[in-house]
Amino acid sequence: MAANTTNKTAKLIINGDEANAAEFPILSGTEGPDVIDVRSLYKQTGMFTHDPGFMSTSSCESTITFIDGEKGILRHRGYDIADLAEKCTFLEVCHLLLYGELPNTKEKEEFERNITMHTMVHEQLQILYKGFPRRSHPMAILVGAVASLSAFYHDSLDIYDPEERDLASRRMIAKMPTLTAMAFKYSIGHPFVYPDNNLDFAANFLNMMFAVPCEQYKVSPVLSKAMNKLMILHADHEQNASTSTVRLASSSQANPFACIGAGISSLWGPAHGGANQAVIEMLDMIGDVKNIPEFIKRAKDKDDPFRLMGFGHRVYKNYDPRAAVIKDSCYEVLEELGAVDNPKLAIAMELEKIALNDEYFVQRKLFPNVDFYSGIIYEAMGIPTTLFTGLFAMSRTAGWVAQWQEMIADPDQKIGRPRQLYIGEGARKVLPPNKR
Ligand code: SDX
Repeated sequence: MAANTTNKTAKLIINGDEANAAEFPILSGTEGPDVIDVRSLYKQTGMFTHDPGFMSTSSCESTITFIDGEKGILRHRGYDIADLAEKCTFLEVCHLLLYGELPNTKEKEEFERNITMHTMVHEQLQILYKGFPRRSHPMAILVGAVASLSAFYHDSLDIYDPEERDLASRRMIAKMPTLTAMAFKYSIGHPFVYPDNNLDFAANFLNMMFAVPCEQYKVSPVLSKAMNKLMILHADHEQNASTSTVRLASSSQANPFACIGAGISSLWGPAHGGANQAVIEMLDMIGDVKNIPEFIKRAKDKDDPFRLMGFGHRVYKNYDPRAAVIKDSCYEVLEELGAVDNPKLAIAMELEKIALNDEYFVQRKLFPNVDFYSGIIYEAMGIPTTLFTGLFAMSRTAGWVAQWQEMIADPDQKIGRPRQLYIGEGARKVLPPNKR
């Protein structure tokens, strides 16, 4: 598939000089806004576009994920996220993101078997883990561990070999749960638990997280189903900050493991994937439903850095379709765990109700995003708050490797190198220290 060139163009008239107007082609996709192709802007006008935060910038052509912020639509290769979350396994969605189609029965078995055979990590990685302080944030360990994988897997580093690209992608998807669970086990002084090939992907992760050598661990089917759904909901999301980081890092032709490590670093921030941890910390800070008005007031105060974590989104201006699915899952998990009266859930629901009726949030179209309820489920499962973003990274690895493959395979791809508006000092001479 490629962008459709329309017969429409955009004319840029600078200071009324119509005779030298710059003209740009308008491209249209399958759906979503058309784009003005400004690649020739500098050549035609000697000027750059200026778009801090890329509020109005399309960075690439992609066939993987479509989101419509006004309508609250999220589709992967044309399939609606709620449909995928309800009817598929995470590995089926990984296959869809990577290869463009959901696998048939034979493809599904083959893909699951292949991923399963890559879930173990090199034994020497345990030495890397043991070099970290026990209280290290799991994301610090994951960034290091993932970027180090290029030292172990030399047979999947040639980014221009499609087979090596595919092998690196499957290794990343397969090994992230193992590396994430290892970070948890290391932090609590438990022995690492090896992957169990008899378990499905989500159950295997929970087993690596909570099994101990002294007794048989039985994975709850309800928790496994919820984990599978949460991984699907976090798998990919168009050109978000961490995916754009992976694409930019990959554009220099760096190896895939280093680029995924860059994506993990970007996801860590509380404005992005770190929000799920920040939501729980915020709910702890609020402590009681009666304190909500004070925090709502602080969230609206420009002089107060406090923000309602888990609220707002750059693209979704009505609601985040993932949040609705996660909220339903919340009940199922809490019911299974006999924790429906979870005080944090009560605060979260009251906070959502108040914020959605408050002019400040309504006017700015701020409402719960994917991170608002996910932390409540993770915490109820016994997952420590600091590991929440690691679970986001484990799931988003599927989207990162799919977007990476799409970019590397694009014959037009080139190194990403934005320009700037320079507002610093003009040219000046160096003076000796006694004259400065
Ligand atoms: C993810 O891009 C993706 O797709 C990301 C993601 C993915 O799947 O990859 O969906 C995952 O990162 C979800 C977002 C998680 N982050 C949070 O929950 C952190 C809290 N949210 C905010 O930091 C913020 O809403 C962002 C970062 C999510 C979006 O920021 P924008 O689009 O740059 O919007 P903005 O900061 O310019 O805010 C617009 C206005 C401002 O007020 P005014 O200056 O117009 O008066 O809304 C206010 C902001 O102050 N605002 C908030 C707020 N978010 C925005 N006010 C209070 N609480 C908030 N959470």
